Amino acid sequence: MPVCEPLLAWYDAVRRDLPWRRTRDPYRIWLSEIMLQQTRTETVKSYYNRFLALFPTVADLAHAPQEQVLKVWEGLGYYSRAAHLKAAAEALVADHGGELPDTAGDLIRLPGIGPYTAGAIASIAFGERTPAVDGNVMRILSRFTADETPVNTSKSRAHYTPIAANLLPAHRPGDFNQALMELGATVCLPNGAPLCDRCPGAEFCRARLEDRIEQLPVKA
Ligand code: ADE
Repeated sequence: MPVCEPLLAWYDAVRRDLPWRRTRDPYRIWLSEIMLQQTRTETVKSYYNRFLALFPTVADLAHAPQEQVLKVWEGLGYYSRAAHLKAAAEALVADHGGELPDTAGDLIRLPGIGPYTAGAIASIAFGERTPAVDGNVMRILSRFTADETPVNTSKSRAHYTPIAANLLPAHRPGDFNQALMELGATVCLPNGAPLCDRCPGAEFCRARLEDRIEQLPVKA
């Protein structure tokens, strides 16, 4: 797919400087992906730094009192995320030497890690060539390929995942996934408001070329 290199070059040029993009520590990348599941980037930043100051490693988290973990999470919401994180840390210390598994297929077996988060961690922290498909990514793929498959049904992810997998480069899969996330957050916006003049995929995007941006993605 010709969009791969332009998208990576665009990402290199405009990527936001976020704390979890300055580390290769799988634990830190895992924490960021859990916090980002339901919370905006700006809000996550300060919680992320405070959490890591208190619990700098998987073992520190595993051995911390539950109340202390929930206390740092206070205000972020969706507290099951914190409980799952701690349960997963305990399991990793008990069974896996405190290390995260390095594939999406193994990560997804941990509490709190679904297919999107597993793909994000495996690709970003370990360089696995595996997709990370959420609503933002499905919107981009639907537009790039003028795919009318709805993006909001129980079958959507299964449809769009192989399409994302085909686009993924063997080099820099984590950056490619983050470039899609970045594009979805800043340029390929929902509700008919995309900023196509800033899009590195504009000349390949079938929805734009066919003047169907307003019609895509389809919602059931
Ligand atoms: N949303 C979820 N994960 C993200 C990441 N790694 N970068 C930007 N936005 C995200």
